[in-house]
Amino acid sequence: MMRAARFHGQGGPDVVRIDEVPRPVPAPGEVLVRVSAFGLNNAEVLQRRGVVPAPAGGVPGLECVGRVVETRAGADGPAVGDRVGVLLRGGGYADYVAAPAGACLPVPDDVDEVKAAAVPEAAVTAWWNLVHRGRVRSGERVLVHGAAGGVGMLAAQLARELGAEVIGTARGAAKVGLCRQLKVPHVIDYGADDVAAAVLRQFPGGVDVILDNQGGPALERNVGMLAPLGRLVIVGTQAGPVGELDVGRLMGLGAEVSSSSLGKLDDARRVALCAEVGERVLPLVASGGIVPVVDSVFPLSGIVAAHARFEHPERIGKVVVTTG
Ligand SMILES: NC(=O)c1ccc[n+]([C@@H]2O[C@H](COP(=O)([O-])OP(=O)(O)OC[C@H]3O[C@@H](n4cnc5c(N)ncnc54)[C@H](OP(=O)(O)O)[C@@H]3O)[C@@H](O)[C@H]2O)c1
Repeated sequence: MMRAARFHGQGGPDVVRIDEVPRPVPAPGEVLVRVSAFGLNNAEVLQRRGVVPAPAGGVPGLECVGRVVETRAGADGPAVGDRVGVLLRGGGYADYVAAPAGACLPVPDDVDEVKAAAVPEAAVTAWWNLVHRGRVRSGERVLVHGAAGGVGMLAAQLARELGAEVIGTARGAAKVGLCRQLKVPHVIDYGADDVAAAVLRQFPGGVDVILDNQGGPALERNVGMLAPLGRLVIVGTQAGPVGELDVGRLMGLGAEVSSSSLGKLDDARRVALCAEVGERVLPLVASGGIVPVVDSVFPLSGIVAAHARFEHPERIGKVVVTTG
């Protein structure tokens, strides 16, 4: 048996409770990981509230860090004893999780445990959307909305490391300050300034790529900031899923709108992305080129407080839970 945090009904943070459940048994091609820490994500808040379904198996958790304790036949790559970050479809809120071997990212020894737990979901999201969907090239201008959020801060730093000129948006002095600390060269306070006006004032020709977390209602505003042949990549619908778009304007720019959800990608694509992120992004985290910012750390027994903190407007960066 092992401990796992699960949702008991739908609602606020206090529906998350710790249960004793059977330890998962890895299938062929999978490894069993002793989880030492896991990061919280917006998806789990949506699951907790009943906006989206809880994960299969009932234990939430899209990312963790830990050590491999068992491998099954066909589990190529990680060996028993290896330290790994894991991209999961669920199951991370527990002492142990079974995962496809290819979903494991090698975590260099010099990356702190708590920071490592904050990386897999945000890094794979940032990589997939900037590199594959946005096709960011060196010298291009990239606007990252919510650059002080979990995905946004990784994405803003990754875009800079890819050679782009990055513009980040955040709300309030503390979050704007954090973006500057993370060497985001242009930061707009979206609570105080009109983002589109500020962007076009500084870059009258528009930006090449926008990473958007707002969704439908922000479509027109985002397209209005694109340069010719620009790419709008939508990763979130925080302002809502539905919006209007003047396709004539889009065509006039030769621009593209794309979107995706990591959770909907098939296993083969996720495994390929993990390999790329392991090779290209984790070394940058290890060298300090990309800094995962952690707002707060809780023990597993403090999972309710961790969920409450995740939703606090002053949170800056990731919330991480350690299993101790
Ligand atoms: N497509 C995928 O595969 C995928 C994967 C992971 C996450 N996501 C989605 O990506 C989004 C971000 O996730 P996360 O884990 O980074 O969440 P997070 O840490 O809660 O970050 C959300 C960010 O959104 C910002 N924000 C809120 N209103 C905004 C506005 N009007 N304009 C610009 N930014 C605004 C917040 O900025 P302030 O804090 O400055 O207010 C915050 O930094 C969520 O919608 C999540 O569901 C998608």
